[in-house]
Amino acid sequence: MCGIVGYIGFREAYPILINGLKRLEYRGYDSAGIAVMNGTTNIYKHKGKVAELEETTRTKNIHGTIGMGHTRWATHGVPNDINAHPHSSQHAIFTVIHNGIIENYAKLKEKLEARGYKFVSDTDTEVLANLIEYIYIKGEVSAEIAVRLALAKVVGAYGIVIMCQNEPEQLIAARKGSPLVIGIGNNEYFVASDATPIVEYTNSVIYLNNDNIAVIKRNELTLKTIENLQVTPTVHKLTMDIDAIEKNGFEHFMLKEIFEQPRSINDTFRGRISPLLDEIRLGGLMDILPKIDQAKRIIIIACGTSWHAGLVGEYLIEEFARIPVEVEYGSEFRYRNPIINKDDIIIAISQSGETADTLAAISLAKSKGATVLGICNVVGSSIPRETHAGVYTHAGPEIGVASTKAFTAQVTVLTMFAFMMGHRKKLISNQQYKQLITDLVAIPQKIEHILEMHQEYKRIAELYKDATNFLYLGRGYLFPVALEGALKLKEISYIHAEGYPAAEMKHGPIALIDNKMPVVVIATRDKSYEKICSNIQEVKARKGIVIAIVTEGDTVIKQMADHVLEVPATNEAIAPLTTVVPLQLLSYYIAVMRGCNVDQPRNLAKSVTVE
Ligand code: AGP
Ligand code: GLU
Repeated sequence: MCGIVGYIGFREAYPILINGLKRLEYRGYDSAGIAVMNGTTNIYKHKGKVAELEETTRTKNIHGTIGMGHTRWATHGVPNDINAHPHSSQHAIFTVIHNGIIENYAKLKEKLEARGYKFVSDTDTEVLANLIEYIYIKGEVSAEIAVRLALAKVVGAYGIVIMCQNEPEQLIAARKGSPLVIGIGNNEYFVASDATPIVEYTNSVIYLNNDNIAVIKRNELTLKTIENLQVTPTVHKLTMDIDAIEKNGFEHFMLKEIFEQPRSINDTFRGRISPLLDEIRLGGLMDILPKIDQAKRIIIIACGTSWHAGLVGEYLIEEFARIPVEVEYGSEFRYRNPIINKDDIIIAISQSGETADTLAAISLAKSKGATVLGICNVVGSSIPRETHAGVYTHAGPEIGVASTKAFTAQVTVLTMFAFMMGHRKKLISNQQYKQLITDLVAIPQKIEHILEMHQEYKRIAELYKDATNFLYLGRGYLFPVALEGALKLKEISYIHAEGYPAAEMKHGPIALIDNKMPVVVIATRDKSYEKICSNIQEVKARKGIVIAIVTEGDTVIKQMADHVLEVPATNEAIAPLTTVVPLQLLSYYIAVMRGCNVDQPRNLAKSVTVE
């Protein structure tokens, strides 16, 4: 979950580390710390944000050309200065930063304590630092061997970077589960948990594979497996550009990313829709299409917002391609002994491509012989590498912890997939196909139009920013949008919110409604329109406050609702792409007005690499 950055080369490490940590802060922000080696190893760490660490270190004249930095998302031990990384081994020979969880840390700790080791922090990471040191001293081996032997004893997930005081000309990096990328410069190397801190220095990178250990010197990189077998590294070219990871004048990344959606959806179409709008071609799936044609069932696996996109996918695929779909949370799927058949198609959806629960579900499905497809945003991340085939969403880097443009890009891919499969299966005529594609490509413009009205959202946010609960209702395709709207509000404004299918309200949540309860109803014109109008009446009859998302020109709901927010008319199957945007803006403005840290909401991290 955390952010890792490391540097070895000829430049001063300190500014590279601090800068890198700022770029990575979206991955974890419980504490931040750096270590720079220059004869001795100097560690500086601090509870809280990178800015605080920078404040306390700016005047310290930190020099050295080898170093590492970490932003933490605490798993073991509260966020405080002591538990912050880097962690030093007892005799200060090793310094370690770590992303992930050492699951057998308690047992290892007990053994080390019996051998005289004392621990200062509550973290599992310190156990690893001491284990490496213990093996190094006892076995009289090199740092590289000590790391390898220690990792062989570890159960759990890690992305680690290690410095050894006695072998000061190298960094050691290793990975199992948690991602690590190595940037290659001229006589310098960078290590990071994702490419964002590297992109300004080099675009040549190596993605570390599971169970790989890299020994990185200024002008040499050696890659081996944990079994000590040599690995030939594959060098990839980064296509990310620096503007994509800057705010470019927006107050927050989240707002920038909401406003980027017309562009990111167009990028997701690019090269996949024919100029005549009569064909969809998802290049990454071409080889596997005959298998999908035969599928008796599709299982979609995801977490959080990606799971909501999966629900939209279920409605779309069942409607247009008539293939039964189940949508599963990665964490539940993995542990409930699911029935998986060889001819099942699994679709894993993930922005980061690193979500541990989703990855674990993928490996379970693969072990049962199913074909696994990925819908991912981060190029080169673990999920695209673990799946048999897939489609990138091309939304560009998403830095705000609350997912926005990744959601609409995922829904775009699922929509293209459902239309394409329906057409392949001859369930959709050529003419219908062309009409659906035409409707879909019109979406970015419609979102532009919604974004132009953002002042309107501000006005409503101002009125309800102090509410303590919100209810979100939708039917059909718009039910997952209600869930997503509620999640956005919870995540960034800390207001309790629930999303419900509008018709289910009468089976329970209606008891919550009183004159203090804002109810956001997504009620664009579709086949459930009359029904949802009745649901609005039911809320009004109990004095609830109705904020309705309606189709432009709607006069009926205007009579009933307290507020209406208009979106352009569109085919109901693609209405999630437009209707989610007002909900994103509403939660954004409410959170800003409540003084919340929108891009880095408390307790959350951008990619959840622990179970
Ligand atoms: C969304 O706003 C969240 N922060 C979170 O629910 C996220 O969607 C979830 O953790 C899944 O992440 P992924 O798409 O990177 O797999
Ligand atoms: N488990 C480690 C800790 O709690 C690392 C957490 C992280 O990934 O930031 O310190």
